[in-house]
Amino acid sequence: MRTQVAIIGAGPSGLLLGQLLHKHGIDNVILERQTGEYVLERVRAGVIEQVTMDLLDEAGVGVRMHEDGLLHEGVQICVNGVRHRISFKDMTGKSVMVYGQTEITKDLMDGRAAVGAPTIYAAYDVSLHGILSDTPHVTFRADGKVQQIECDFIAGCDGFHGVSRKSAPHAAIVTHERVYPLGWLGILTDTPPVSEELIYVRHPLGFALCSMRTPTRSRYYLQCSLAEDIESWPDERFWEELKPRLDEEARDRLVTGPSIEKSIAPLRSFVAEPMRFGRLFLAGDAAHIVPPTGAKGLNLAASDVRYLSQALIEYYAEKSEAGLKHYSDRALARIWKAERFSWWMTMLLHRISEDPFDQKIQLAELDYLFRSKAAATVFAENYVGLPY
Ligand code: FAD
Ligand code: PHB
Repeated sequence: MRTQVAIIGAGPSGLLLGQLLHKHGIDNVILERQTGEYVLERVRAGVIEQVTMDLLDEAGVGVRMHEDGLLHEGVQICVNGVRHRISFKDMTGKSVMVYGQTEITKDLMDGRAAVGAPTIYAAYDVSLHGILSDTPHVTFRADGKVQQIECDFIAGCDGFHGVSRKSAPHAAIVTHERVYPLGWLGILTDTPPVSEELIYVRHPLGFALCSMRTPTRSRYYLQCSLAEDIESWPDERFWEELKPRLDEEARDRLVTGPSIEKSIAPLRSFVAEPMRFGRLFLAGDAAHIVPPTGAKGLNLAASDVRYLSQALIEYYAEKSEAGLKHYSDRALARIWKAERFSWWMTMLLHRISEDPFDQKIQLAELDYLFRSKAAATVFAENYVGLPY
Protein backbone atom coordinates (compact mmCIF):
# COMPACT_ATOMS: atom_id res chain seq x y z
CA MET A 1 0.00 0.00 0.00
CA ARG A 2 1.14 3.57 -0.62
CA THR A 3 -0.27 6.86 0.63
CA GLN A 4 0.91 10.45 1.00
CA VAL A 5 0.37 10.78 4.76
CA ALA A 6 0.10 7.81 7.13
CA ILE A 7 -1.80 8.91 10.23
CA ILE A 8 -1.39 6.92 13.46
CA GLY A 9 -4.45 7.14 15.73
CA ALA A 10 -8.15 7.80 15.07
CA GLY A 11 -8.76 10.15 18.00
CA PRO A 12 -9.89 13.73 17.32
CA SER A 13 -6.46 14.83 16.04
CA GLY A 14 -5.97 11.96 13.57
CA LEU A 15 -9.53 12.11 12.24
CA LEU A 16 -9.54 15.90 11.88
CA LEU A 17 -6.16 15.91 10.13
CA GLY A 18 -7.38 13.18 7.76
CA GLN A 19 -10.51 15.15 6.90
CA LEU A 20 -8.66 18.43 6.22
CA LEU A 21 -6.02 16.71 4.08
CA HIS A 22 -8.65 14.80 2.11
CA LYS A 23 -10.46 18.09 1.34
CA HIS A 24 -7.28 19.32 -0.30
CA GLY A 25 -6.78 16.14 -2.31
CA ILE A 26 -4.04 14.72 -0.09
CA ASP A 27 -4.24 10.99 0.21
CA ASN A 28 -4.09 9.55 3.74
CA VAL A 29 -4.63 6.32 5.63
CA ILE A 30 -5.44 6.18 9.37
CA LEU A 31 -4.23 3.27 11.50
CA GLU A 32 -6.03 2.81 14.83
CA ARG A 33 -5.28 0.07 17.32
CA GLN A 34 -8.77 0.00 18.87
CA THR A 35 -12.11 -0.75 17.23
CA GLY A 36 -14.32 2.13 16.07
CA GLU A 37 -16.90 1.31 18.78
CA TYR A 38 -14.28 1.52 21.50
CA VAL A 39 -13.00 4.91 20.26
CA LEU A 40 -16.57 6.25 20.24
CA GLU A 41 -17.27 5.22 23.80
CA ARG A 42 -14.44 7.13 25.48
CA VAL A 43 -16.08 9.99 27.38
CA ARG A 44 -13.67 12.90 27.61
CA ALA A 45 -13.75 16.56 26.61
CA GLY A 46 -16.80 18.76 26.65
CA VAL A 47 -15.78 22.35 25.94
CA ILE A 48 -14.55 23.64 22.59
CA GLU A 49 -13.16 27.02 21.61
CA GLN A 50 -14.35 29.20 18.74
CA VAL A 51 -11.18 28.39 16.76
CA THR A 52 -11.89 24.65 17.14
CA MET A 53 -15.49 25.19 15.97
CA ASP A 54 -14.14 27.09 12.95
CA LEU A 55 -11.80 24.23 12.08
CA LEU A 56 -14.58 21.62 12.36
CA ASP A 57 -16.63 23.81 10.00
CA GLU A 58 -13.71 24.03 7.61
CA ALA A 59 -13.44 20.23 7.67
CA GLY A 60 -17.14 20.10 6.75
CA VAL A 61 -18.24 18.30 9.92
CA GLY A 62 -19.75 21.16 11.96
CA VAL A 63 -23.44 20.84 11.08
CA ARG A 64 -24.59 18.75 14.05
CA MET A 65 -22.35 20.75 16.41
CA HIS A 66 -24.21 23.96 15.48
CA GLU A 67 -27.58 22.23 15.87
CA ASP A 68 -26.97 20.40 19.15
CA GLY A 69 -24.04 22.19 20.82
CA LEU A 70 -24.70 24.63 23.65
CA LEU A 71 -23.10 28.08 23.38
CA HIS A 72 -21.79 29.32 26.72
CA GLU A 73 -21.16 33.02 27.25
CA GLY A 74 -19.69 32.68 30.72
CA VAL A 75 -18.59 30.34 33.46
CA GLN A 76 -19.21 30.18 37.19
CA ILE A 77 -16.69 29.62 39.94
CA CYS A 78 -17.90 28.63 43.39
CA VAL A 79 -15.54 29.33 46.29
CA ASN A 80 -16.42 27.86 49.68
CA GLY A 81 -20.14 27.88 48.88
CA VAL A 82 -20.36 31.31 47.17
CA ARG A 83 -20.79 31.48 43.41
CA HIS A 84 -19.21 34.09 41.09
CA ARG A 85 -19.67 34.50 37.36
CA ILE A 86 -17.13 35.49 34.72
CA SER A 87 -18.65 36.66 31.46
CA PHE A 88 -16.69 35.65 28.37
CA LYS A 89 -18.97 37.76 26.23
CA ASP A 90 -18.33 40.97 28.21
CA MET A 91 -14.60 40.40 28.57
CA THR A 92 -13.75 39.08 25.10
CA GLY A 93 -16.87 39.15 22.91
CA LYS A 94 -16.45 35.39 22.42
CA SER A 95 -18.15 32.20 23.64
CA VAL A 96 -17.29 28.53 23.99
CA MET A 97 -19.35 25.57 22.86
CA VAL A 98 -20.33 22.61 25.03
CA TYR A 99 -20.36 19.64 22.66
CA GLY A 100 -18.99 16.24 23.67
CA GLN A 101 -15.81 14.74 22.27
CA THR A 102 -17.78 11.56 21.56
CA GLU A 103 -20.08 13.58 19.27
CA ILE A 104 -17.13 15.28 17.53
CA THR A 105 -15.52 11.87 17.00
CA LYS A 106 -18.78 10.53 15.56
CA ASP A 107 -19.12 13.51 13.19
CA LEU A 108 -15.52 13.06 12.03
CA MET A 109 -15.96 9.30 11.54
CA ASP A 110 -19.17 9.87 9.56
CA GLY A 111 -17.45 12.56 7.48
CA ARG A 112 -14.60 10.19 6.71
CA ALA A 113 -16.94 7.34 5.82
CA ALA A 114 -18.89 9.70 3.51
CA VAL A 115 -15.78 10.49 1.44
CA GLY A 116 -14.60 6.89 1.50
CA ALA A 117 -11.20 7.64 3.06
CA PRO A 118 -9.58 4.55 4.59
CA THR A 119 -9.26 3.90 8.34
CA ILE A 120 -7.85 0.57 9.46
CA TYR A 121 -9.21 -0.23 12.91
CA ALA A 122 -7.77 -2.99 15.12
CA ALA A 123 -4.34 -2.35 13.59
CA TYR A 124 -1.87 -4.00 15.98
CA ASP A 125 1.89 -3.65 16.47
CA VAL A 126 2.09 -0.41 14.49
CA SER A 127 5.75 0.32 13.91
CA LEU A 128 7.39 3.37 12.28
CA HIS A 129 10.40 2.97 9.98
CA GLY A 130 12.81 5.31 8.18
CA ILE A 131 11.47 8.53 9.71
CA LEU A 132 14.81 10.27 9.13
CA SER A 133 14.94 9.13 5.48
CA ASP A 134 12.93 10.37 2.48
CA THR A 135 11.12 7.04 2.24
CA PRO A 136 9.41 6.34 5.56
CA HIS A 137 7.01 3.43 5.99
CA VAL A 138 4.76 1.93 8.61
CA THR A 139 4.18 -1.75 9.35
CA PHE A 140 1.27 -3.23 11.31
CA ARG A 141 -0.75 -6.37 11.79
CA ALA A 142 -4.42 -6.50 10.75
CA ASP A 143 -6.70 -9.36 9.71
CA GLY A 144 -3.97 -11.71 10.91
CA LYS A 145 -1.44 -10.42 8.33
CA VAL A 146 1.60 -8.16 8.62
CA GLN A 147 1.10 -5.22 6.24
CA GLN A 148 3.13 -2.23 5.11
CA ILE A 149 2.28 1.32 4.04
CA GLU A 150 4.82 3.45 2.23
CA CYS A 151 4.29 7.19 2.58
CA ASP A 152 5.80 10.68 2.30
CA PHE A 153 5.04 11.66 5.91
CA ILE A 154 3.86 10.09 9.16
CA ALA A 155 1.54 12.02 11.50
CA GLY A 156 1.76 10.70 15.08
CA CYS A 157 -1.74 11.40 16.42
CA ASP A 158 -1.80 8.40 18.76
CA GLY A 159 -2.20 10.02 22.15
CA PHE A 160 0.00 10.00 25.23
CA HIS A 161 0.50 6.21 25.29
CA GLY A 162 1.03 5.84 21.55
CA VAL A 163 4.00 4.49 19.63
CA SER A 164 4.92 7.62 17.61
CA ARG A 165 6.63 9.71 20.29
CA LYS A 166 8.56 6.62 21.42
CA SER A 167 9.80 6.17 17.83
CA ALA A 168 11.60 9.54 17.81
CA PRO A 169 15.38 9.38 18.28
CA HIS A 170 15.98 9.46 22.04
CA ALA A 171 18.71 12.09 21.92
CA ALA A 172 16.55 14.46 19.85
CA ILE A 173 13.62 14.74 22.26
CA VAL A 174 13.27 16.74 25.46
CA THR A 175 10.31 16.17 27.78
CA HIS A 176 8.88 18.39 30.52
CA GLU A 177 6.48 16.92 33.04
CA ARG A 178 4.51 17.74 36.16
CA VAL A 179 2.41 15.05 37.81
CA TYR A 180 -0.21 16.27 40.28
CA PRO A 181 -0.99 14.10 43.30
CA LEU A 182 -4.67 13.80 42.33
CA GLY A 183 -7.16 12.63 39.75
CA TRP A 184 -10.68 13.43 38.54
CA LEU A 185 -13.45 10.96 39.17
CA GLY A 186 -16.08 11.67 36.49
CA ILE A 187 -19.65 10.47 36.01
CA LEU A 188 -22.15 10.94 33.22
CA THR A 189 -25.86 10.85 34.09
CA ASP A 190 -29.14 11.32 32.27
CA THR A 191 -30.26 14.07 34.63
CA PRO A 192 -30.71 17.79 33.91
CA PRO A 193 -27.61 19.92 34.69
CA VAL A 194 -27.58 21.79 37.97
CA SER A 195 -26.97 25.11 36.17
CA GLU A 196 -27.07 26.48 32.63
CA GLU A 197 -23.35 27.25 32.87
CA LEU A 198 -20.41 25.17 34.05
CA ILE A 199 -19.59 25.54 37.75
CA TYR A 200 -15.96 25.06 38.81
CA VAL A 201 -15.91 24.46 42.56
CA ARG A 202 -13.10 25.27 45.00
CA HIS A 203 -13.92 23.81 48.41
CA PRO A 204 -11.95 22.68 51.49
CA LEU A 205 -13.23 19.13 50.78
CA GLY A 206 -11.67 19.30 47.32
CA PHE A 207 -12.37 20.45 43.76
CA ALA A 208 -15.58 19.61 41.90
CA LEU A 209 -16.94 20.48 38.45
CA CYS A 210 -20.56 20.54 37.32
CA SER A 211 -20.65 20.24 33.55
CA MET A 212 -23.06 18.90 30.97
CA ARG A 213 -23.48 17.45 27.51
CA THR A 214 -27.11 18.37 26.72
CA PRO A 215 -30.04 19.93 28.63
CA THR A 216 -30.84 16.42 29.90
CA ARG A 217 -27.38 14.94 30.35
CA SER A 218 -24.92 16.03 33.05
CA ARG A 219 -21.22 15.43 33.58
CA TYR A 220 -19.81 15.84 37.10
CA TYR A 221 -16.26 15.51 38.39
CA LEU A 222 -14.77 15.21 41.88
CA GLN A 223 -11.14 15.60 42.87
CA CYS A 224 -9.92 12.20 44.11
CA SER A 225 -6.70 10.60 45.23
CA LEU A 226 -4.63 8.67 42.68
CA ALA A 227 -4.92 5.52 44.77
CA GLU A 228 -8.73 5.56 44.45
CA ASP A 229 -10.42 2.38 43.23
CA ILE A 230 -13.46 3.03 41.04
CA GLU A 231 -15.21 0.00 42.56
CA SER A 232 -15.35 1.80 45.90
CA TRP A 233 -17.38 4.63 44.34
CA PRO A 234 -21.00 3.54 44.02
CA ASP A 235 -23.19 6.35 42.66
CA GLU A 236 -24.63 7.19 46.11
CA ARG A 237 -21.17 7.87 47.45
CA PHE A 238 -20.41 10.18 44.50
CA TRP A 239 -23.53 12.27 45.12
CA GLU A 240 -22.89 12.40 48.89
CA GLU A 241 -19.36 13.71 48.30
CA LEU A 242 -20.49 16.23 45.66
CA LYS A 243 -23.36 17.85 47.59
CA PRO A 244 -21.43 19.50 50.45
CA ARG A 245 -19.02 21.11 47.95
CA LEU A 246 -21.84 22.97 46.16
CA ASP A 247 -23.57 26.25 47.03
CA GLU A 248 -27.09 26.08 48.45
CA GLU A 249 -28.88 26.88 45.18
CA ALA A 250 -26.94 24.22 43.27
CA ARG A 251 -27.55 21.68 46.04
CA ASP A 252 -31.30 22.37 45.86
CA ARG A 253 -31.33 22.02 42.08
CA LEU A 254 -29.14 18.92 41.92
CA VAL A 255 -30.97 15.95 40.40
CA THR A 256 -29.17 12.70 41.12
CA GLY A 257 -29.56 9.50 39.14
CA PRO A 258 -27.70 6.37 38.05
CA SER A 259 -24.40 6.91 36.27
CA ILE A 260 -24.10 5.76 32.65
CA GLU A 261 -20.31 6.10 32.70
CA LYS A 262 -17.75 6.46 35.47
CA SER A 263 -13.99 6.83 35.16
CA ILE A 264 -10.88 8.22 36.85
CA ALA A 265 -8.37 10.41 35.00
CA PRO A 266 -4.98 11.32 36.49
CA LEU A 267 -3.88 14.96 36.18
CA ARG A 268 -0.67 15.65 34.36
CA SER A 269 1.18 18.41 32.50
CA PHE A 270 3.55 17.13 29.81
CA VAL A 271 5.32 18.55 26.76
CA ALA A 272 7.68 16.78 24.35
CA GLU A 273 9.88 19.04 22.22
CA PRO A 274 10.33 19.35 19.29
CA MET A 275 7.26 17.99 17.50
CA ARG A 276 9.03 17.08 14.27
CA PHE A 277 11.64 14.38 13.66
CA GLY A 278 12.50 14.15 9.97
CA ARG A 279 9.33 12.86 8.28
CA LEU A 280 7.46 12.27 11.56
CA PHE A 281 5.19 15.00 12.98
CA LEU A 282 3.54 14.65 16.39
CA ALA A 283 0.14 16.24 17.08
CA GLY A 284 -2.28 16.35 20.03
CA ASP A 285 -1.88 14.25 23.17
CA ALA A 286 1.02 12.36 21.51
CA ALA A 287 3.13 15.48 22.11
CA HIS A 288 1.52 17.14 25.13
CA ILE A 289 -0.93 16.69 27.99
CA VAL A 290 -2.69 19.33 30.06
CA PRO A 291 -4.69 18.71 33.22
CA PRO A 292 -8.38 18.95 32.20
CA THR A 293 -9.13 21.96 34.45
CA GLY A 294 -8.67 24.51 31.65
CA ALA A 295 -10.58 22.42 29.04
CA LYS A 296 -7.66 22.77 26.64
CA GLY A 297 -6.59 19.24 25.53
CA LEU A 298 -8.88 18.74 22.57
CA ASN A 299 -8.55 22.38 21.58
CA LEU A 300 -4.77 22.08 21.50
CA ALA A 301 -5.05 18.91 19.43
CA ALA A 302 -7.15 20.92 16.96
CA SER A 303 -4.69 23.81 16.84
CA ASP A 304 -1.77 21.43 16.15
CA VAL A 305 -3.81 19.93 13.32
CA ARG A 306 -4.51 23.39 11.94
CA TYR A 307 -0.78 24.19 11.71
CA LEU A 308 0.15 20.72 10.42
CA SER A 309 -2.60 20.49 7.79
CA GLN A 310 -1.73 23.98 6.47
CA ALA A 311 1.96 23.02 6.27
CA LEU A 312 1.24 19.77 4.39
CA ILE A 313 -1.21 21.48 2.02
CA GLU A 314 1.41 24.14 1.28
CA TYR A 315 4.04 21.40 0.71
CA TYR A 316 1.95 19.55 -1.87
CA ALA A 317 0.48 22.65 -3.58
CA GLU A 318 3.57 24.84 -3.71
CA LYS A 319 6.45 22.42 -3.10
CA SER A 320 7.35 24.66 -0.13
CA GLU A 321 8.76 23.22 3.09
CA ALA A 322 8.39 26.52 5.01
CA GLY A 323 5.29 25.48 6.96
CA LEU A 324 6.76 22.07 7.80
CA LYS A 325 9.93 23.75 9.04
CA HIS A 326 8.01 26.06 11.35
CA TYR A 327 5.36 23.58 12.49
CA SER A 328 6.98 22.64 15.77
CA ASP A 329 7.79 26.20 16.88
CA ARG A 330 4.36 27.53 15.93
CA ALA A 331 2.51 24.73 17.68
CA LEU A 332 4.68 24.90 20.80
CA ALA A 333 4.17 28.65 21.23
CA ARG A 334 0.45 28.03 21.60
CA ILE A 335 0.89 24.83 23.62
CA TRP A 336 3.00 26.46 26.34
CA LYS A 337 0.41 29.20 26.88
CA ALA A 338 -2.30 26.55 27.30
CA GLU A 339 0.04 24.57 29.59
CA ARG A 340 0.50 27.65 31.75
CA PHE A 341 -3.22 28.38 31.94
CA SER A 342 -4.16 24.75 32.71
CA TRP A 343 -1.49 24.49 35.42
CA TRP A 344 -2.58 27.83 36.94
CA MET A 345 -6.27 26.85 37.01
CA THR A 346 -5.41 23.47 38.52
CA MET A 347 -3.33 25.04 41.30
CA LEU A 348 -6.02 27.67 41.92
CA LEU A 349 -8.97 25.34 42.41
CA HIS A 350 -7.75 22.02 43.84
CA ARG A 351 -6.95 21.05 47.37
CA ILE A 352 -3.31 20.23 46.81
CA SER A 353 -1.42 21.65 49.76
CA GLU A 354 -2.32 21.21 53.43
CA ASP A 355 -0.24 24.29 54.26
CA PRO A 356 -2.58 27.15 55.38
CA PHE A 357 -0.24 29.65 53.65
CA ASP A 358 -0.90 28.02 50.26
CA GLN A 359 -4.64 27.96 50.94
CA LYS A 360 -4.66 31.69 51.84
CA ILE A 361 -2.76 32.48 48.64
CA GLN A 362 -5.36 30.50 46.63
CA LEU A 363 -8.22 32.44 48.23
CA ALA A 364 -6.47 35.79 47.72
CA GLU A 365 -5.92 35.01 44.05
CA LEU A 366 -9.57 34.01 43.59
CA ASP A 367 -10.77 37.17 45.35
CA TYR A 368 -8.56 39.20 43.00
CA LEU A 369 -9.96 37.35 40.00
CA PHE A 370 -13.53 38.29 40.98
CA ARG A 371 -12.73 41.93 41.82
CA SER A 372 -10.34 42.89 39.03
CA LYS A 373 -11.64 43.42 35.52
CA ALA A 374 -8.08 42.99 34.22
CA ALA A 375 -7.69 39.61 35.97
CA ALA A 376 -11.10 38.41 34.78
CA THR A 377 -10.24 39.48 31.23
CA VAL A 378 -7.00 37.50 31.30
CA PHE A 379 -8.91 34.47 32.57
CA ALA A 380 -11.65 34.81 29.93
CA GLU A 381 -9.16 35.35 27.07
CA ASN A 382 -7.33 32.15 27.98
CA TYR A 383 -10.48 30.10 28.58
CA VAL A 384 -12.14 30.99 25.26
CA GLY A 385 -8.81 30.46 23.47
CA LEU A 386 -6.10 32.86 22.41
CA PRO A 387 -6.17 34.06 18.79
CA TYR A 388 -3.77 32.40 16.36
P1 FAD B 1 -6.48 10.61 21.77
O1 FAD B 1 -7.88 11.07 21.95
O2 FAD B 1 -5.79 9.96 22.92
O3 FAD B 1 -6.46 9.64 20.51
C1 FAD B 1 -5.33 8.87 20.18
C2 FAD B 1 -5.77 7.63 19.41
O4 FAD B 1 -4.62 6.87 19.05
C3 FAD B 1 -6.64 6.70 20.23
O5 FAD B 1 -7.80 6.38 19.51
C4 FAD B 1 -5.76 5.49 20.51
O6 FAD B 1 -6.51 4.30 20.63
C5 FAD B 1 -4.86 5.49 19.28
N1 FAD B 1 -3.59 4.82 19.49
C6 FAD B 1 -2.80 4.82 20.61
N2 FAD B 1 -1.71 4.07 20.43
C7 FAD B 1 -1.79 3.56 19.18
C8 FAD B 1 -0.93 2.70 18.42
N3 FAD B 1 0.20 2.22 18.93
N4 FAD B 1 -1.32 2.39 17.16
C9 FAD B 1 -2.47 2.89 16.63
N5 FAD B 1 -3.32 3.71 17.32
C10 FAD B 1 -2.97 4.03 18.57
N6 FAD B 1 -9.96 18.67 26.26
C11 FAD B 1 -10.63 19.81 25.96
O7 FAD B 1 -10.23 20.52 25.01
N7 FAD B 1 -11.75 20.22 26.62
C12 FAD B 1 -12.23 19.51 27.68
O8 FAD B 1 -13.27 19.88 28.25
C13 FAD B 1 -11.51 18.31 28.08
N8 FAD B 1 -11.94 17.55 29.11
C14 FAD B 1 -11.29 16.38 29.40
C15 FAD B 1 -11.76 15.63 30.46
C16 FAD B 1 -11.13 14.44 30.80
C17 FAD B 1 -11.63 13.65 31.97
C18 FAD B 1 -10.02 13.96 30.02
C19 FAD B 1 -9.33 12.64 30.35
C20 FAD B 1 -9.56 14.71 28.96
C21 FAD B 1 -10.17 15.92 28.64
N9 FAD B 1 -9.73 16.71 27.57
C22 FAD B 1 -10.36 17.89 27.29
C23 FAD B 1 -8.56 16.28 26.76
C24 FAD B 1 -8.94 15.60 25.44
O9 FAD B 1 -9.82 14.54 25.66
C25 FAD B 1 -7.67 15.10 24.72
O10 FAD B 1 -6.71 16.12 24.70
C26 FAD B 1 -7.95 14.61 23.29
O11 FAD B 1 -8.61 13.37 23.31
C27 FAD B 1 -6.66 14.46 22.48
O12 FAD B 1 -6.94 13.92 21.21
P2 FAD B 1 -5.87 13.09 20.41
O13 FAD B 1 -6.54 12.64 19.16
O14 FAD B 1 -4.60 13.83 20.32
O15 FAD B 1 -5.53 11.83 21.34
C1 PHB C 1 -16.40 18.19 30.61
O1 PHB C 1 -17.57 18.58 30.44
O2 PHB C 1 -16.08 16.99 30.46
C2 PHB C 1 -15.37 19.17 31.00
C3 PHB C 1 -15.68 20.51 31.06
C4 PHB C 1 -14.71 21.43 31.46
C5 PHB C 1 -13.46 20.97 31.81
C6 PHB C 1 -13.14 19.62 31.74
C7 PHB C 1 -14.10 18.71 31.34
O3 PHB C 1 -12.53 21.88 32.23
